[in-house]
Amino acid sequence: MQSIANQIWAIVPAAGSGRRMNAGQPKQYLPLRGRAVIDHTLEVILSEPRVDKVLVGIRQEDPEWSQSLSSGHLRVSSYVGGAERVNTVLNGIKAVTTEFNGVSDDWILVHDAVRPCLKNSDLTSLIKFCLHSGEGAILGTTVVDTIKRVDAQSTVVKTESREGLWRALTPQMFRLGALRDALEFCVKNEIECTDEAQAMELSGYTVSMVSADSSNIKITHPGDLALADFYLSK
Ligand code: C5P
Repeated sequence: MQSIANQIWAIVPAAGSGRRMNAGQPKQYLPLRGRAVIDHTLEVILSEPRVDKVLVGIRQEDPEWSQSLSSGHLRVSSYVGGAERVNTVLNGIKAVTTEFNGVSDDWILVHDAVRPCLKNSDLTSLIKFCLHSGEGAILGTTVVDTIKRVDAQSTVVKTESREGLWRALTPQMFRLGALRDALEFCVKNEIECTDEAQAMELSGYTVSMVSADSSNIKITHPGDLALADFYLSK
């Protein structure tokens, strides 16, 4: 059983350029219900008292961060991210250990800046699960659509079974030392990881899935903002 004394550090990667949105500004700073997307995201993370500190990974040149409502929060700090999301997370872990004396057995909770609709109750479930089991876990939802595999011409090749398939969301929560080693292994071996769990799986760790609400969308395309607005209005 895990002692509750280990600290929980939230790392929020926010160093993406958001090119796919065609919005002229990174998607984490787009307006959503009168605030920047990232302000909604950080409000949820900060609502969880067990999160000791939130480290936001920003771009080297990021004039918008200091304008955000969250940048002045006492439990929020920023650091410079990296070329890929994995580098941004690794820089965050480095900041936790060098600037805040985080240790290997502490917890790192990674949550995308562009997922503003995370439910407080799902964040709490994930943290409770990890502290109780002592093992890392991620939020996810079951796949409900029929899944097709297509070829380069977009012709359907086959229908995949969706039995046991889940969509991986964030937050994802792991022990600091294990996550750092797993991510460094992937970077060193040029293995492209699209989430932290993939790196942990490849390094042989058990990763559990905690069921979450499917409204926890990642703002990716322009229409996603209207959807996020709808979810937040409920
Ligand atoms: O581009 P994508 O939607 O996968 O980005 C997910 C999250 O990762 C976003 O919050 C984005 O700002 C962040 N990111 C980052 N550093 C990068 C690339 C993306 O922090 N180099």
